[in-house]
Amino acid sequence: MLAVSNSLASFHRADMNETLSLLYSHHSDRSFTDEPVSDEALCSILEAARRAPTSSNAQHISTVVVRDAARRTLIAEFAGGQSWIAKAPVFVAVILDFYKTGLGIAAAGETSVFHETVEGLLAGVTDAGIALATMMTAARSLGLGIVPIGGIRRNSQGLIELLELPPRSFPVVGLSIGHVQQPAQLKPRLPIETFRHDERYRTEQLQPAISAYDTILLEYWQSLGRADGKPWSANTAEAYKQASHRPVAAAIQKQGITYNK
Ligand SMILES: Cc1cc2nc3c(=O)[nH]c(=O)nc-3n(C[C@H](O)[C@H](O)[C@H](O)COP(=O)(O)O)c2cc1C
Repeated sequence: MLAVSNSLASFHRADMNETLSLLYSHHSDRSFTDEPVSDEALCSILEAARRAPTSSNAQHISTVVVRDAARRTLIAEFAGGQSWIAKAPVFVAVILDFYKTGLGIAAAGETSVFHETVEGLLAGVTDAGIALATMMTAARSLGLGIVPIGGIRRNSQGLIELLELPPRSFPVVGLSIGHVQQPAQLKPRLPIETFRHDERYRTEQLQPAISAYDTILLEYWQSLGRADGKPWSANTAEAYKQASHRPVAAAIQKQGITYNK
């Protein structure tokens, strides 16, 4: 049986509301029409992210909006040939921005060392993820489709130059936004017992749940006619068995974010 524990049906609850319904129906779309995203919608999406919380209220997140088709095509190439970046009318780069915080810190007569620390990197990347998630929810609430793009880190340096990012800033992730042509299916997730642990972490419940999910995901791919779809274990192994070929460390350190303390 396909993805029963992951289907929306299993999430029906007495306290179901529009927000939960939107979150439970999350999916990444990769099929977009040419219809532009209005400035009004884009402003609403960015405002939601600007209102999102940040560590220490440092607000070390910025965005660069790319609407220009030629520039989006270039970004699609940087990301390894992801055609949906070129197709979706808006691409938003989420920038970890210690340049901006540096200006405030200098105005206060101090020098920042936060960008030299692992703590700084973790705090900044966490906040970039919150901004990304907030934009995704806002965009979907307006009826738009989204796909997050970590593939930009295949060529961070190219994107840094294209966006003319200042020192101590780095493009962590991106988001393509547009009107959906062919809606994507909900992708099943690992069972809840691999995600929720109460009071203490329970290792014993993981493997059976992972095995069950491997079957569910394979059936999901087969239901879509995707012969290339793999079980989760094999797919994750393929991604994680080798060191990333993305030259991220060199690019982020070149920007002066050294995280070595
Ligand atoms: C941080 C992040 C980076 C991602 N990068 C890409 C990407 O570069 N290209 C892409 O097509 N999908 C990307 N995705 C989408 C994931 O592949 C997708 O979320 C996952 O397969 C689950 O599918 P769903 O979002 O449809 O539920 C990314 C997702 C996240 C959260």
